[in-house]
Amino acid sequence: MSKVKDPKLAEQGLKNIEFAEREMDALLKVRERFTKEKPLKGVRIGICLHITKETAVLIETLIAGGAEVTACSCNPLSTQDDVAAALAKKGIEVYAYKGESKEDYYKFLNKVIEFKPQITIDDGCDLVTEIHSKHKDLIEGVIGGAEETSTGVIRLRAMEKDNALKYPVIAVNDNKTKHLLDNYIGTGQSTIDGILRGTNILLAGKNAVVAGYGDCGKGVALRLRGMGANVIITEVNPFRAVQAVYDGYRVMPMDEAAKIGNVFITVTGNKHVIKTEHISTMKDGAILANSGHFDVEIDYSGLKQIALEAREIRPLVEEFTLKNGNKVLVLAQGRLCNLSLAEGHPSAVMATSFCGQALACEYLVKNKGKLPPKVITLPEELDNEIAGLQLEALETEIDELDQKQIEYLNSWKEST
Ligand code: ADE
Repeated sequence: MSKVKDPKLAEQGLKNIEFAEREMDALLKVRERFTKEKPLKGVRIGICLHITKETAVLIETLIAGGAEVTACSCNPLSTQDDVAAALAKKGIEVYAYKGESKEDYYKFLNKVIEFKPQITIDDGCDLVTEIHSKHKDLIEGVIGGAEETSTGVIRLRAMEKDNALKYPVIAVNDNKTKHLLDNYIGTGQSTIDGILRGTNILLAGKNAVVAGYGDCGKGVALRLRGMGANVIITEVNPFRAVQAVYDGYRVMPMDEAAKIGNVFITVTGNKHVIKTEHISTMKDGAILANSGHFDVEIDYSGLKQIALEAREIRPLVEEFTLKNGNKVLVLAQGRLCNLSLAEGHPSAVMATSFCGQALACEYLVKNKGKLPPKVITLPEELDNEIAGLQLEALETEIDELDQKQIEYLNSWKEST
């Protein structure tokens, strides 16, 4: 039996799923093929992803391929309750509501585990780690897993290094059609969307500090600049810092940026990138938002301890009064602001990310028993196939190499 906030929301959820499909042609093409070929016939897939309209399109694609699916959310604040209700109405088992307690979060994760998944799909690696630490008996029956996000892949690599990973997991995040589109284009737009839906502040003229200049940070910085903000980057990686300087941004340590920023966005994948020492020096009215996977990038609990007062001034916008009288605002309790305050990445971006998930499941089934218990990258042909499907969806054609060019690329004898 599913657990959702309100089954009556299903009608809007169904419409939203249909609306997402309009922008997800590439994934629908995969669904069309899956419907005919049934590559996932009878396979139990346990899903721990953000429960959004795009995830619903993925779930229905997996089911079209013959899979049985049970799903929970990978984040307590990201569930779209209407979508969860719609999935439940369609008879898909789903355990998720927006604002889940920690207790319910783990209860729901364990509902997916009770389903004895043969494939796990994670966004952040919680399903894999829960199975590996508390349900080792299930590992034997697992064909493999697929991981959506950078943070999850980092955790998986740490497990692999410790010899703790006991089944193969495909790092979908490492597909070019994932991190170079979703992390860059998707996080760029959806983060701005979350900040604006939460606060409706004018970004033009503001000092916007982006912590982290990976694919996500690059996207966020680019879109902020497009909105007229003065963008400042903080980094720990010297190469990325050089890239940021050459892209025309000011780069400085957080100690300095903290004093001049109006808006702060963390996208590092690390913890306590904004510490209470930084917050204490911030200007009155500074806004703090996170778009990294976990809620650890801003020291939110430290802030709660040093603040004199706290109140929710708008939904999911908390105002903290500091000892010096300044007020700072934190969005979505330091959780992903794009999925908590807005709707996450746009459907068109999720289309290619989720083609990666669907093809990863098919790849795991085709290679059942043959893959090592390691972090695995999908073959480049599959990544290129996804890009091809998206080009088709974008009605864009490209050139092909002719025979002479192929020979040229494969030869070493030709020169000036
Ligand atoms: N991650 C970021 N945006 C998302 C979305 N719209 N659906 C599922 N996962 C996401």
